[in-house]
Amino acid sequence: MVTIAVTSEPADEPRVAVSPDTVKKFTALGALVRIEQGAGLRSRFSDDAYRAAGAEVVGKAEALAGADILLRVRRPSAEDIRALKPGAIVAGMIDPYGGGGELTALAETGATVFSMEFMPRTTRAQSMDVLSSQANLAGYKAVVDGAAIFGQALPMMMTPAGTVPAAKAFIMGVGVAGLQAIATARRLGAQVTATDVRPATKEQVQSLGAKFIAVEDDEFKQAQTAAGYAKPMSAEYQAKQAELVANHIKTQDLVITTALIPGRPAPKLISRAMIESMKPGSVIVDLAAERGGNTELTEAGRTIETPNGVKIFGPLNLAGTIAVNASSLYARNLLAFLETMIDKKEKTLAVNWDDELVKGTLVAKGGQIVHPNLATKTA
Ligand SMILES: NC(=O)c1ccc[n+]([C@@H]2O[C@H](COP(=O)([O-])OP(=O)(O)OC[C@H]3O[C@@H](n4cnc5c(N)ncnc54)[C@H](O)[C@@H]3O)[C@@H](O)[C@H]2O)c1
Repeated sequence: MVTIAVTSEPADEPRVAVSPDTVKKFTALGALVRIEQGAGLRSRFSDDAYRAAGAEVVGKAEALAGADILLRVRRPSAEDIRALKPGAIVAGMIDPYGGGGELTALAETGATVFSMEFMPRTTRAQSMDVLSSQANLAGYKAVVDGAAIFGQALPMMMTPAGTVPAAKAFIMGVGVAGLQAIATARRLGAQVTATDVRPATKEQVQSLGAKFIAVEDDEFKQAQTAAGYAKPMSAEYQAKQAELVANHIKTQDLVITTALIPGRPAPKLISRAMIESMKPGSVIVDLAAERGGNTELTEAGRTIETPNGVKIFGPLNLAGTIAVNASSLYARNLLAFLETMIDKKEKTLAVNWDDELVKGTLVAKGGQIVHPNLATKTA
């Protein structure tokens, strides 16, 4: 029988790696889930709900002892991994580019570590795509929180007492989070514009009823990698983009920034001067705060107010602020991935090392960091 351990996450991580729903499905696959007492409480999953789904609710040491698999939201400690079966599987958001030596320490435990952030963006892997499931919720929550900080109505309202104008929302970066931010801001009645460097986003923005603005030169036409990500843009393009943004941002009430390039610091799209040109009371929500921020003034994990009255919110874990939804979807992503590794007849682990999803997400095995994107870390 395959045993799966689930432990509590750190104080700043309210999510949990399994839900009662996924425990039920793991149990139906013939696996035994041992979850640390109270691990789901911040996601509103009670110990009783896990028990009813077939899990054993135990102390942390008991959950880890001799387990075949450890499921996590965040990277576990090397010490916890040593309590598992030698060579056990660890799957979670390992933060492969962060934490330096910690990843090496993790690899040195001999565990087989999968980083869910590296899940290939293929059709087959859609149900396992943790970046998408969490970014989608973050994009939604960015607008809701931004609207609350803004403290004014978003939709145009024509009333006998007069007209309330629609707020103007500007979404920078139209990946999964940006698309959901556009959709949410539209639902709340804002007048929405959006920008990205990937040409494919233009149609997506327009199909959501928002206006697309961007520097659409030759470089823009080539700005998407084969994997569908943005390329770093030239200094010349960035200057043109900055001019466009500078003119536009002055009139905006709510700006949501989500621009990222995998493995690199976030591009600085909003300068101090641009922020100084914005209206008092306007709000920026910077979803790239964790990776250095898309504005020059973002402070990760804080909301600051500039002398000209612009509030900049730099959340670190927005999906975690709606943990019940985030954990439910994240747990489903992990289940879908793990299902590919469990032999349903024999009820044993059966990893297909040639599977592109296994190869794509495997970061450490046999004591070594093995992922090609992390090659420099082993040197
Ligand atoms: N299963 C799938 O097929 C699948 C699933 C999810 C996402 N995707 C694709 O992956 C790609 C990335 O999505 P993501 O949500 O992970 O993105 P992301 O979080 O890596 O980046 C957010 C957005 O920022 C944009 N950006 C980067 N630099 C910028 C700049 N200087 N100025 C303006 N915008 C900038 C990017 O183009 C991207 O749209 C998209 O093509 C998306 O459609 C595919």
